[in-house]
Amino acid sequence: MSAFAYRGGRLMAEDVPLSRLAAEIGTPFYCYSSSAIEAQYAAFAGAVADLDPLICYSVKANGNQAVIATLARQGAGADVVSGGELKRALAAGVPAGKIIFAGIGKTAGEMAAALDAGILQFNVESAPELEELNRVALSKGVRAPVAIRINPDVDALTHAKIATGKAENKFGIDLPHAPEVYARARSLSGIEIVGIAVHIGSQLADLSPYRTAFTRVADLARALKAQGHPIRRLALGGGLGIGYGSEPAPSIAEYASLARSIAAPVGAALAFEPGRLLVGNAGVLVTRILYVKQGITRRFVIVDAGMNDLLRPALYDAFHAIMPVAQPVSAEPPQLVDVVGPICESADVFAVQRPLPPLAAGDLLAICSAGAYGAVMSSFYNARPPAPEIMVRGSDHAIVRPRADLDAIIADERIPGWLGGAPVAASRAAGSKR
Ligand code: LLP
Repeated sequence: MSAFAYRGGRLMAEDVPLSRLAAEIGTPFYCYSSSAIEAQYAAFAGAVADLDPLICYSVKANGNQAVIATLARQGAGADVVSGGELKRALAAGVPAGKIIFAGIGKTAGEMAAALDAGILQFNVESAPELEELNRVALSKGVRAPVAIRINPDVDALTHAKIATGKAENKFGIDLPHAPEVYARARSLSGIEIVGIAVHIGSQLADLSPYRTAFTRVADLARALKAQGHPIRRLALGGGLGIGYGSEPAPSIAEYASLARSIAAPVGAALAFEPGRLLVGNAGVLVTRILYVKQGITRRFVIVDAGMNDLLRPALYDAFHAIMPVAQPVSAEPPQLVDVVGPICESADVFAVQRPLPPLAAGDLLAICSAGAYGAVMSSFYNARPPAPEIMVRGSDHAIVRPRADLDAIIADERIPGWLGGAPVAASRAAGSKR
């Protein structure tokens, strides 16, 4: 059952009416259900329990401290891709020993921070990165635990902008190059080989690409083991899709059975890096209708959330279901409308020619499945402070990120000296070191 359902004519987040939150906080805002996050984690953890894997929540999906802490409390580790995400995961209480650091562009500073923290594993994505990590580890007198991320050249059958497993994608080391990179890794005294990593893309609806990718990883693992490499862990990435509309969500059980039948027999520990699956359907973006404009060819519902709050429709033409917060009562037929934001870009559209019940200015809408890659991808474009974030638990709620203070942000910018402004100290300008 969804955590967001109508009760007594009102759309609820667990036991909290979204209209009440809107009155308290103002719109737009994100609302997350902690029990929905926990339920998804339990569903995934239960499906793979017999494999005794490490489940590293992919923090990039939603890096709010409340979200990471909710998952950490359930036992999740973290998959991070920057020094910033590493900080977030540690601050939310994820033990360093459950953190995997992925990403193709780690800086020496980020590597050093991760080594200092004592993370579980680096997923290394290129030969030069391996050399740099070796150098940083040696400078600290430690060995960096490393899995090489391979690029299995598999089409994930997902949106091109979130496919990562084809040879033309920037990610990972091409499978044919893997043996030489492992051989090189073995010769480096700052590197400790611990496994293999793979991630072929996000929002996979069809599981067959996983079969191919896992098979290629398992074959490589056997070959490397035969050469004496200590392949102790296979990090199988994330990417399992969710239902955004009425389409059925891919089966977690089937996904688990692919890992069970293909990867587990290798005899290495398994790690998974789910992001969207755990939080995507645990969040909505609540927005208020400002105006309804009847054009010659279109009826536009203009709302107070924009692409700066939720970029997915603009960037990927992503579909997000939209529900009125007040349950529609009239028997009037739906109208085809475009739900659009206030930003000066034609891409600032949440829905095109969507059948929705008759709507009027002042009505609240919930844009669904916004828990993953929503708030984290928000920006200040058009000088619009990103929507605040609320988490509910039963009838309780907490503001887990307040609305940004635009005055403070403007005050943080400086007019240069030649325009009469005061200088900023260089140390301040550089920001905190990564
Ligand atoms: N592991 C690695 C190495 C990844 O690159 C990603 C996502 C994940 C795990 C988690 O994938 P998930 O389980 O969430 O699919 N902004 C896009 C999605 C980008 C995904 C990037 N990598 C969107 O809104 O659809």
